[in-house]
Amino acid sequence: MKIAVLTGAGVSAESGIKTFRDSDGLWEGHDVMEVASPEGFAQNPEVVLDFYNQRRKQLLSVQPNTAHYALADLEDKHNVTIITQNVDDLHERAGSKNVIHLHGELLKVRSTFDEDLILDWKEDLYLGDVCENNHQLRPHIVWFGEMVPMIEVAAEVVEKADAIIIVGTSMQVYPAAGLIQYAKPDAQIYFVDPKPSISESKKIMVFAEKASIGVPKVVELLN
Ligand code: APR
Repeated sequence: MKIAVLTGAGVSAESGIKTFRDSDGLWEGHDVMEVASPEGFAQNPEVVLDFYNQRRKQLLSVQPNTAHYALADLEDKHNVTIITQNVDDLHERAGSKNVIHLHGELLKVRSTFDEDLILDWKEDLYLGDVCENNHQLRPHIVWFGEMVPMIEVAAEVVEKADAIIIVGTSMQVYPAAGLIQYAKPDAQIYFVDPKPSISESKKIMVFAEKASIGVPKVVELLN
């Protein structure tokens, strides 16, 4: 069976990474637009770089959780593609082979001049760190107002899927939230989130619980 999995911040919550909208619109104490927009970067690049330096350090200190591992296990029997809004690498570390990152990756940086010049990066990033062509490097993150280059590939994956699993997302950020509209009419949809933003229907089975509890149940149903 072809399975598309759409994940958001909630799948990594139990690994210790905070979600975005569970705490008063602040993200680790910051206004999201200040640290996640091209305007914010232009205005105060040090604050933005420092913010992502902290996120990168935090990521290197946390581990995948039961939900990431259960999704990786699905690959034993099915053709699985994970489409994640998360910038962490916890799906990959849990063993998932096909992961599409809609909003970029924390462990990569790119040239501010050439968006295709992307480098692996585990250290802190500072003003003055430049690419081979001497242009400042920035986090490889899709900020608010920027294009989501992987969205078309993701839509194709959803279109072909026989089953779709959605985990831990408030479904508020487009175009990611619109992906579900590409589902085949007969695709079964499973939604795991303690505060689900979608209601149960004939096509959608809702598991109103944490990812570590709900995801293994969905995986068992599909195996
Ligand atoms: N298990 C599953 N879901 C959980 C858990 C958990 N343990 N804890 C919280 N959640 C759910 C919340 O109920 C909420 O619905 O995770 C969801 C998190 O929602 P958001 O914080 O809005 O995160 P997300 O949907 O991934 O945000 C999308 O917004 O700022 C941007 O680019 C950023 O990729 C991000 C995008």
